[in-house]
Amino acid sequence: MTEQLFSAASEVDRAFLFILAFAVGALVLVTVLMLYFTWRYHHTRNPEAVEIPGSLGLELLWTILPTVIVMSMFWFGWTSFKAMRTVPEGAMEVAVEARMWSWAFTYPGGKRSAVLVAPVGGDVKLSMTSRDVIHSFYVPALRLKMDTVPGLTTTAWFNASAPGEFDILCAEYCGLKHANMITTLRVVPAEEFRQWLAGTDAVGSRARELFETYGCTGCHDLAGGAGAGPPLDALGGRVADVLLPDGRKERVTVDADYLRRALLEPEAEIVEGYDPMMPSYQDQIPEEDLEAMVQWMLTGDTAGPPPGRELAEAEGCMSCHSTDGSYIAGPSFRGLADSMRSVRDASGALREVRADDAYLRQSILDPGALVVEGETPIMPGYDSLDAAQVDQLVEYIRSLGPQDGAGAGAPQQ
Ligand code: CUA
Repeated sequence: MTEQLFSAASEVDRAFLFILAFAVGALVLVTVLMLYFTWRYHHTRNPEAVEIPGSLGLELLWTILPTVIVMSMFWFGWTSFKAMRTVPEGAMEVAVEARMWSWAFTYPGGKRSAVLVAPVGGDVKLSMTSRDVIHSFYVPALRLKMDTVPGLTTTAWFNASAPGEFDILCAEYCGLKHANMITTLRVVPAEEFRQWLAGTDAVGSRARELFETYGCTGCHDLAGGAGAGPPLDALGGRVADVLLPDGRKERVTVDADYLRRALLEPEAEIVEGYDPMMPSYQDQIPEEDLEAMVQWMLTGDTAGPPPGRELAEAEGCMSCHSTDGSYIAGPSFRGLADSMRSVRDASGALREVRADDAYLRQSILDPGALVVEGETPIMPGYDSLDAAQVDQLVEYIRSLGPQDGAGAGAPQQ
């Protein structure tokens, strides 16, 4: 079984193992008896049918034994159910909102995130709901699975005993991109959680998120520590001795250009003392992220994403709209602003419109009004956003540039 980090979850494992053991035992018993009876009562051994009169002992045995077994199954199920349903007093309440096809978490104080962050050893109560259809919040490591239902608040709780990152999945088929509805439970030490919640953690949550997202932290420390690769903090103005592919040694000053090369063509210059094992990140990191990462390595801070981008992430736009021109389940945000779109209005008539601010605003609030030709009208309306938030999103889409190539964001065939 996968690792589990929730004390109440051990009860779930116990119930599961008990039922599994009984099921395997019953399978073996039935199989053996069946083979034995086939042999023992074969017609060559019993040419004459014999009437077998009732047996009180046997009747009692096969009534009492299954009753005891079923009751003990119920007992194991009941205790684990109770342990997982009884939320301890004083648990921190996190609101979970599911929507096609992403998760949003809101913490006390109003901070929102797209990954669930929780302190080690802290009781966390989840109040869950859904914006559109039924989803199911599923964390295998917590043995926790609970439906999220529109118009209803369901609750669950957990207390994670060890730090680490664990998968959160949607366990209820909810449409085209159901399989993409995944995120992470990040369990961190209590102090780190407090800082994260207050937005004052040393590394800067934005930078940490980026370096974790692209897998950098597997080899590089963000605070000067050792690793398979050099630490990434405070690099601005440093000099490094690097080996070139032809074996020559060179001394370089670490600047933005060098860091870009190090990410995009890591094999071109290897810092002395390290193995050349880093993969190239060419075409894998969107420009704005790349810039933020380089900036953090040089100066230790990132200006942070534009507010519109954070909003787009928190609202789940990114599960359907890419920022690099590729197609996920709707037009890419890159090159969308001011492009010409063929759309069908409510009456089904086809016409050409320019994706200006008014069009973008309407597409967010009432996406069904004008549907891009070739798209399925699956996007929910975001009419809970206020005007300022919609403007932020429009501004963000605009920041991703005008159309830069024919067919950007067109549905793939
Ligand atoms: Cu949400 Cu499946």
